[in-house]
Order: sequence, then structure tokens, then C-alpha cells
Amino acid sequence: MDELRSNVRRMLNNQDNIRIVGEARNGREALELVKELQPHVVLMDINMPEIDGLKAAEMLAKDFPNVQTVIMSIQGEQEYFRRAMKAGAKDFLIKPFSTNDLIDTIQNVFNKWVKDRPELFSEEPRADILTFFATKGGVGRTTLAVNLAAGLVSKGKKVLLIDASLQFGDVAITLNQPAKRTIYHLVESGEEITLGEIEKNIIKHESGIDLLLAPKEPAFAEAVKSEHFLKIIENVETLYNFIIFDMPPSITEKELAILDRSTMVLLVATLEISSLKNTKICLKTFSDINFDLSKIKLILNKEIPNVGFGKEDLESGLAIPVYATVPMEAEIAQRSLNHGEAFVLKSPASAIARSILGMADRLVGTTTGPETGKSAIFKIKDLLFGS
Ligand SMILES: Nc1ncnc2c1ncn2[C@@H]1O[C@H](COP(=O)(O)OP(=O)(O)OP(=O)(O)O)[C@@H](O)[C@H]1O
Ligand SMILES: [Mg+2]
Repeated sequence: MDELRSNVRRMLNNQDNIRIVGEARNGREALELVKELQPHVVLMDINMPEIDGLKAAEMLAKDFPNVQTVIMSIQGEQEYFRRAMKAGAKDFLIKPFSTNDLIDTIQNVFNKWVKDRPELFSEEPRADILTFFATKGGVGRTTLAVNLAAGLVSKGKKVLLIDASLQFGDVAITLNQPAKRTIYHLVESGEEITLGEIEKNIIKHESGIDLLLAPKEPAFAEAVKSEHFLKIIENVETLYNFIIFDMPPSITEKELAILDRSTMVLLVATLEISSLKNTKICLKTFSDINFDLSKIKLILNKEIPNVGFGKEDLESGLAIPVYATVPMEAEIAQRSLNHGEAFVLKSPASAIARSILGMADRLVGTTTGPETGKSAIFKIKDLLFGS
């Protein structure tokens, strides 16, 4: 018995997707351990003292339907195969078996079980990627990105704000955050971008937002390439509920790479004729390059009455509906900028803050990201064997 256990242990030693979580010497011990360890698969010898393998398999099938039992037996006991299956075992290994037989059997049994329960092993949730974009400067992308990020954090979400406005990024100054580490620090070495390196260069802001800041000088912007952004997203998307990009007013390969990966492109426009014109050209460009227009949400920022045209005019002029309207509130916006503090936190009752918090509520309602931001790591193919 001990010898069989050590053989099996040796056979499974180098399998990184199979972990032996426990061993038992008899059926009773096996049942107790299963209760405690809840393994995915149990390998059970048919001949065991106290409670034999068949009886134990039957008890396991009844009390632990998620535990898959494989019965091991010596040659000549084929009759047991039928009885084992009837007892609730999922497969049968005839001794002596090869390492391959053993691994295949464990994997097949496990895979079959997973196939019937896609909900247990569905892909890890990924962050929604929200990108604030406009082809005209000064329309409020940074203001909205920072305040939406703070609003989402205040609702318990994990948020990474990336300043992709590489030449003249304003996220640091808007949050009164010295740019001790930036995206430039991450890419300058030319080495592979790993999660560890990314985390080293993320700044934890006191508001609770995680920040990846723009380079300190415009000359460094060139060093950051589109593939860097894609690599960053790939590494962190299961760690956050939201990744928010603040963008520069241009459409080059770099911006397109981010826009393509975005869940939502928040296209910011104001009630100025130049903004209307630029937004219209921007939408036409997106359409010309077959960009997925359904991802684009129009944000009307700095809404103010009696300026010659209003929300409806914007909607009919651009032929898309306004997703959210943020009122013009110059004093609050300016003060918050100069104090380096998000107004959703400083003046949450103001109309400008409420409009953004309302947007955060809508986004939280539709997000599919993880609640805690912790990645759910499933135990893979844990294995307990008895006998
Ligand atoms: N809803 C608002 N009401 C009043 N002022 C606003 C509003 N939104 C933004 N602002 C102000 O408009 C100015 C430009 O905003 P912001 O820097 O966020 O725009 P941007 O699109 O990021 O500009 P840039 O092209 O420099 O990146 C700032 O002074 C900001 O305080
Ligand atoms: Mg900006």
C-alpha cells in the first residue's frame, strides 16, 4: 500500500498542473481528508482496510458530488470495473499502470467534470478599459478621467489610471502627485515588461487610485510604444475593475492601439463649434478605419445654457446620442485642479461631481470585473489518493 502511494507520488512529481494535497492509508482516513481538503480528484485502491474502495467511492459520490473518484485495482478484477462505476467512481486504473495512463486518467476525469461546469472555471474577470478621448485639447479629458477614477474608487472599485498623454500629461499635477515613477521608468530599460516591473512603477495615490503617470518630459514620450501599452494591459487587466486612460488629442498608431483594446471610448465634446467640428472629423475617421463605433460614448462636458447650441444640437450634428452630460462649473473645476484634489471627493454634492458619480454608478452597474480586484486563482487539479 505504502509502495503504491510512493509510486503514484513519484509518477505525479513533475506534473505542474497536478498537486497532491493529501494521502490516506484507508477508506475512513480518505473520507475524513476529503471532507477537509475538498480535492478535485481522489485515487482510491479497491482493497483497503476498514472501509473498502468501493464503499468509500459510494460514500464520496453521495456526500461530495464534486469530488471525482478513480478506482485502482489489480489485473483480473475486471468485474470490479462495473461495480466501481456503479458505486460512483468516474474511472478505473488497472495495476500496474504507466505514468501516462495515470496522468491521462486524472486529466480526463477532471476535464469531463470541468466541461459540465463552465461557471466554475470561466475566464478570470477582466477590467473594463475606459478611454477618455478627444481630438481637441482642453475639453476636459483629464478632469473627467481623474474624477471618474476617484468616483469609482469611492464605490469600492480597484482602478488604474494611466496617463497616455505622453508629452504633456496632466494627471500628476491634477492630483498633486510628484511623478517619482512614470511609464518612462518602466520602458526605458528596454527589458521585458513584467507585472513586477509594472507594479514598481505604479504610484498608489492617497485617493486610492493607482497611477501610471506620463513621462516628466516630452522628449521621453517617444520611448513609449504601442506594444508597451498592450503589454501593460495584458499584465494588469485581471487585477483591476477599471483601467482608465487619459489620452492626448491625436490619433496615431499609439492611440489606436489603446482605443482598440478599450471597452468604452468616452469621446469628450463641449458646446463649442470647434469641438463639434473636431468630434465630427474624429467620428468620421473612426468610421473610415472600421473602428467599432458601438464602443464610443459621447460625453458632453462643460454644458452651459444659452451658448447658441445645446445637447440636442450636438446629438443631431454628430448623429450619436449623448451618454452623459457634465455641467460647466468653472469655480469647482478650477479650485479642485489648483488644490490637486478630485472634486468628486472634495465637493461631492456639486452638480459637476454628481454627474460624474452618476456615471460611475452606471459603470459599476454594468461592470463584469472582480469585486475585490483580487485575481481568483483556482486550485488546479488537486489530488488526494487513498490506499
Ligand atoms: N465641467 C467643467 N466645468 C468647468 N471647467 C471644466 C470642466 N471640465 C474641465 N474644466 C476645465 O477645463 C480645463 C481643461 O480641462 P482638462 O485639462 O481636463 O482638459 P483636457 O482635455 O485634458 O486638456 P488637454 O488637452 O490639456 O489634455 C481645466 O481648466 C478644467 O478645470
Ligand atoms: Mg489632459
